[in-house]
Amino acid sequence: HKHLLGIEPLAPDEITMILDLAERYVDLNRGRAKHGDALAGLTQINMFFENSTRTQASFELAGMRLGADVMNMSMQASSIKKGETLIDTALTLNAMHPDLLVVRHPHSGAVDLLSQKVNCAVLNAGDGKHEHPTQALLDALTIRRAKGRLHRLSIAICGDIAHSRVARSNILLLGKMENRVKLIGPPTLMPSGIAEFGVEVYEDMAEGLRDVDVVMMLRLQKERMDGGFIPSEREYYHRYGLDAEKLAHAKPDAIVMHPGPMNRGVEIDGTIADDINRSVIQEQVEMGVAVRMAAMDILARNLRSLPKEVMA
Ligand code: CP
Repeated sequence: HKHLLGIEPLAPDEITMILDLAERYVDLNRGRAKHGDALAGLTQINMFFENSTRTQASFELAGMRLGADVMNMSMQASSIKKGETLIDTALTLNAMHPDLLVVRHPHSGAVDLLSQKVNCAVLNAGDGKHEHPTQALLDALTIRRAKGRLHRLSIAICGDIAHSRVARSNILLLGKMENRVKLIGPPTLMPSGIAEFGVEVYEDMAEGLRDVDVVMMLRLQKERMDGGFIPSEREYYHRYGLDAEKLAHAKPDAIVMHPGPMNRGVEIDGTIADDINRSVIQEQVEMGVAVRMAAMDILARNLRSLPKEVMA
C-alpha cells in the first residue's frame, strides 16, 4: 500500500506484519538508545486539524526516533484561518517535498481526498467518524500482548459507537482477525446497519459483558452530536459507565481498555482506569509509539521502492 488510510483495505497477514514489526520497536523504545534509521533522510509533516494529545505526540516521537525530519504544522496558526482550503494547504506542503504526511481532520473522507492530491505517503490519524487505523493497530498489539493471541477472543466495545472512528477501525480489524465482537450501548448511540459488520449488538452492559476477554470503553463524543441526543452524564454513567459491578460480568482476567481522552465518572470509574491489574490504558499509549514507528517504516520501504512518478 502507498498510504495508511484505514483498516478496511488491509489483509490479516498485513496486520500481523505491522504488529510483528511494532514488537521490535517496543523493545527499542524500552532500551536506553531509542534510535533507529528507518526514516533517515525523510521528511514527515504532521497536520492536525483537530485536537490530539496521544496520536500527535506519538507520531512525532515515532518519526524522530526513526531519524526523520519531523515538522508539526500548527493548524490553528496556519492560513486555513484565512480561508485557504484543505486541498490548497496540502498542495502547498506537497511542493516542499515531504515523504510522509500524517493528517487528522474532523470530516470523514478528508484524509482520503487529500491523499489523492499529493505525491507522498499519507497516514490517517483520524478522520471524522470514519477511521483511526493506527489506534486499532495499537489496540490490537495491546490485546495480543495481554492475551497471547489476537483471534477467537470475545471483545466488548462499549458506549458511543455511532460517533467513534476508533470503534469502526476496531470492528474492522478484530473481525478480520476472527474475534467475537460485541457492541454495547444505547440504541441512540448505535449506528444503523452495524449488524452487517458481523457484530452482536447489546443494550444492556451486564448481558453484553458476560464472559468477555476484553472490555473496550469509548468516550462520549459530544462534539459530534450536533445538538442531537446528548444523554445526561449521570444517567449515562449509571447505565453504561464501567464500574466494578459491571466489570464483574466479564471474565475474571478480562482487560480494560480506553483509547483516551478519558472522561472519568462518565464512561469509566477512575479506580478501574487506574487498576494496574485490569487496566491496560497506559500500555495502549506505549504501543501507540511502536505501532506508528512500524507503520511509517513500512510505508517508507514502499516509498523507496517506487519511482517518484509512480507516486503521483
Ligand atoms: N486516542 C486518541 O486518538 O487520542 P488523541 O485524540 O489524544 O490523539
